Amino acid sequence: MASVFFLALLVITCTCVLASDHSPLQDFCVADHQSPVQVNGFACKDAKTVVGDDFFFKGLHIPGNTSNAVGSRVTPVNVVQIPGLNTLGISLARLDIAPWGINPPHLHPRASEILTVIEGQLLAGFVTSNPENRLISKVLKKGDVFVFPQGLVHFQRNIGNGYAVAIASLGSQNPGVITIANTVFGSNPDIASDVLAKAFQLDVKIVDQIQSKF
Ligand SMILES: *[C@@H]1O[C@H](CO)[C@@H](O)[C@H](O)[C@H]1NC(C)=O
Repeated sequence: MASVFFLALLVITCTCVLASDHSPLQDFCVADHQSPVQVNGFACKDAKTVVGDDFFFKGLHIPGNTSNAVGSRVTPVNVVQIPGLNTLGISLARLDIAPWGINPPHLHPRASEILTVIEGQLLAGFVTSNPENRLISKVLKKGDVFVFPQGLVHFQRNIGNGYAVAIASLGSQNPGVITIANTVFGSNPDIASDVLAKAFQLDVKIVDQIQSKF
């Protein structure tokens, strides 16, 4: 009985430890994006040369351009934009969605996300893993906050007649994005259309048609 308890505790502990980036071993490790050194994350810039700008980003008040097929734009603020985020396990993004536009189904392989609606109304949802594949969704208004667990497919849709704006906070310096449609139908090179035809139970011609759009 005690060993079962210990095992359960171990599993829970490991899950928590693996749920975000590794802990830093120093005050900061500002990313040196030019360094040839290959590490998990980025090599540290010499701490003596670190300045305020290494921890700084400006312009998140500027709306993203939503004139595209899905009617949305994500403006990322991660370790690429702020080198000081290296090793800190956090990042954020601004999401703009035009009226009735969507942020298409996607997932973040390395982060959970907590989303705050700043303007407008969104329908937000995520789908649980196999075999249930349950859609868990919620209508969000200005000031509402919703969570997307790490690695689960999720989306947002603007359900209002005005623009919607939200700020996503993510538990990784580099959460990564896997957009389902682009990944599956727009890979380079293509996944063979008969594979996708079987997987999605579609005619090959329809798969070809979808692939041509990505
Ligand atoms: C927004 O994107 C569209 C399509 O790429 C482009 O034609 C348009 O000039 C952009 N608008 C602004 C304000 O940058």
